[in-house]
Amino acid sequence: MVYSNVADYREAARRVLPKFAFSYLEGGAENEITLRRNRAAFESLAFEPRVLCDVSNLDTRANLAGKTFAWPAVVGPTGLNGVFRWRADEWLARAAGAAGLPFVLSTASTSLLEDVRDASDGDLWLQLYVQQDRRIAQNLMARAQAAGFSTLLLTVDTPVLGQRDDYARTGFRMPLRWTPRLVWDIVSHPRWAANVGPHGQPRLVNLSRSAWLGAGLEDRMGTNTHRMDQTLNWRDIAWLREHWHGKLWIKGVQSVADARQAFAHEVDGVVLSNHGGRQLDGARSPLDLLAQTVSEAPRSVDILVDGGVLRGSDIAKAVALGARGVLLGRAPLYGLAAAGEAGVRDVLAMLHAELQTCMRLLGCTDLASLTPALLASHATAADVAATAK
Ligand SMILES: Cc1cc2nc3c(=O)[nH]c(=O)nc-3n(C[C@H](O)[C@H](O)[C@H](O)COP(=O)(O)O)c2cc1C
Repeated sequence: MVYSNVADYREAARRVLPKFAFSYLEGGAENEITLRRNRAAFESLAFEPRVLCDVSNLDTRANLAGKTFAWPAVVGPTGLNGVFRWRADEWLARAAGAAGLPFVLSTASTSLLEDVRDASDGDLWLQLYVQQDRRIAQNLMARAQAAGFSTLLLTVDTPVLGQRDDYARTGFRMPLRWTPRLVWDIVSHPRWAANVGPHGQPRLVNLSRSAWLGAGLEDRMGTNTHRMDQTLNWRDIAWLREHWHGKLWIKGVQSVADARQAFAHEVDGVVLSNHGGRQLDGARSPLDLLAQTVSEAPRSVDILVDGGVLRGSDIAKAVALGARGVLLGRAPLYGLAAAGEAGVRDVLAMLHAELQTCMRLLGCTDLASLTPALLASHATAADVAATAK
């Protein structure tokens, strides 16, 4: 199979993965309005490039969380990656590190954070879900600190899991339940079965290592029965700081009002995100909040945006609107599911190459020259029609 873009990897992932796994990767909450809106927000932006600029020397380096990375992207946190590939978190971390990008390990990872650290010498961040028993989060933070993770990303858009209608249709739940439908789904995807099958059910090993609540925690952490601490609120940022001494970011901010709250609590970074349309259906696209959020952000706070990034030109648009960069969710997972670490590396290389092409076509030579002036202020009717196909 020839892969020329991320969409090709998506198609390959669709073929390789059992239906339940692909729908877990791909789907959004309820009617998927927000999922579609995320893409539409990128597609409705039109460029107004500058020409006859010397674009022979290009620099895509980005400053994030106090460090310099190869280009303005972070490989974002995705839980249950072992459903796509054995040792998935390690492969994602290695590919991100090789591409010169940070990797964020989910609380719901299927590899131990210590094993991910051993697998990659890149910059590692930990994404945190706070469970009702706060000792679990404290222990996760202590372990991540000991393993040299630099940044904590607190996800705030998930007090409860969004409603995913397709789980009922495909029979997806963790742990997997052996129904005739699931068995058929697996035997009809032999490549996946050969890779994941011999290692048994993917397990939330990272979380269970930090829990001493006895057996069964992983079962209760199944897709329907998360035990999130729903009391979590802005005052808990101080509690986090008692336990985490590195950079502290908030992921899942969906309004300018909450971005202001985050700034008032002196966080180091904010990810404008609606969780890839997997939580509150009907939420706005984070891209629509970006310009105003950036205009109010203190200089010391980095703003990232995510949701629907599938092309290098999407990254250019986000940076032009003032983001420090983007966070990638599904795109690296397509590469992972289709071809393991090599697939992730290829997806990242494609996005970087597309970003470089786009910058040259825009007349830009570095991220600072990607400005709002390169974007048409209003989409025309023709733009809207072109993206509606
Ligand atoms: C399969 C999958 C699992 C995810 N799991 C998590 C998670 O454990 N923690 C989290 O903060 N975000 C999670 N997300 C959201 C991503 O971090 C990111 O916000 C989102 O995928 C970005 O949208 P995109 O997939 O369109 O790029 C998940 C997303 C996907 C697709």
